[in-house]
Amino acid sequence: MILRRVFIVNPALLKCRYFSSTAKPLKVQEPLIVNNAKYKRDDWTNLKPRIQSYMNRNIYLQDHHPLSIIRKKIVDHFYKSFVTNRGSPLFSVVDNLSPIVTLEQNFDSLLIPANHVSRKKTDSFYLNRNFMLRAHCTAHQLDLLKSGLDNFLVIGDVYRRDEIDSTHFPVFHQVDAVRTIRRDKLFANHEDLEIFEPNYVTNSESIITNDANGKVAEAGKQPCHTLEAVKLAEHELKTVLVGLVKHLFGDKIKYRWVDAYFPFTQPSFELEIWYNNQWLEVLGAGIIRNEILEKSGISNSIGWAFGIGLERLAMILYNIPDIRLFWSTDSGFLSQFDESRTTAEMQYKPVSKYNQCYMDVSFWLPDTYTLDNFPVNSFYALVREAGGDLVEQVKIIDRFFHSKEKKNSLCFRIIYRHMERDLTKDEVNVVHGQIRDEVKKEFNVTHRI
Ligand code: DAH
Repeated sequence: MILRRVFIVNPALLKCRYFSSTAKPLKVQEPLIVNNAKYKRDDWTNLKPRIQSYMNRNIYLQDHHPLSIIRKKIVDHFYKSFVTNRGSPLFSVVDNLSPIVTLEQNFDSLLIPANHVSRKKTDSFYLNRNFMLRAHCTAHQLDLLKSGLDNFLVIGDVYRRDEIDSTHFPVFHQVDAVRTIRRDKLFANHEDLEIFEPNYVTNSESIITNDANGKVAEAGKQPCHTLEAVKLAEHELKTVLVGLVKHLFGDKIKYRWVDAYFPFTQPSFELEIWYNNQWLEVLGAGIIRNEILEKSGISNSIGWAFGIGLERLAMILYNIPDIRLFWSTDSGFLSQFDESRTTAEMQYKPVSKYNQCYMDVSFWLPDTYTLDNFPVNSFYALVREAGGDLVEQVKIIDRFFHSKEKKNSLCFRIIYRHMERDLTKDEVNVVHGQIRDEVKKEFNVTHRI
């Protein structure tokens, strides 16, 4: 069992740290141990035990779990949609890769620029400067292509530091897919057509309208591809994905495609569905950048790819109101799901309703922070770490500048709710007190009350 730092208080050490002016405590940095391997800590290390406790749970592979049911529906759809000449499924399924990846895999291999917003330390969980928990399953794309797979689905848990509410949790699940299509398949009926423009140049700066800030780039094609090849591949991609949302939500589902930007695809799209009177993004997709295929040794194909989150689909399909429920081990929850039932028979029924309880943390910021650069994502990560899944929501309810004292103040409301029982006031007080202590320690703030 891994003990949390807060509980290991050695009184002797405390004494020497706070009362002795001569003896400096030796700061021996224990390595970080994740999945039995040791990682040297450095200034990027921000992975804490609470998040680690969600690793290896494999809920997406667990029988009768709603995420597992969705996973199987997606795999089924691909098995049915693409078959080899001999009638067996074309797509391979890879669902057991470790979520520990290098920054190279998560970012560089996908042409994500060095200054891209997604690389921020506050947005992902880092073991150190070289290793992180994957922020998307796309992290495995290049390696799997290199290994020789050409049509595959990668399924697994992904980790992001994000806001806290009923639809966000630091761990969630994705299916990421790649399909490469050779010229003879793509143009089976038009042997005179080509995938590539004559004399195209790859790896050139000019290849793409590359918007490093993630803004929507022009929905054009990569210069190396012929328009015919892109349009055919795009058509296949969109057809199979619309087929997938119809397979999941029924033929009547209202959907639309919107242009998007991903560094690893061009053109790129998002598919949105109409749900609860609003458009909800369900997946990102596009034509794989040819540099990625080239790096993996593929020169005669065009490829498409997409990534889809499982939690959002399951929440919509089964009316599950809170993302934390997926981590429930309560049989009252799990017994509601079974592959043999229809979707209509699996609409979520609350086991019972438990009370919410909220408490605020408000504090003065030290001079090192302004109201704008206070790292809210790190604050959320810390609250999640200290409060675990008792924390249902965190929102900023006040930010103000005290002009006389020239001090900045922030106030967050933390809403606590247990999914399976009522919380006592005392219990919440203890957790809230720990959060306050940790916030003070981590950000050097002064609590206001
Ligand atoms: N990795 C993206 C995400 O997590 C989703 C995505 C977009 C995956 C386009 C892909 C892709 O494979 O081609 O938001």
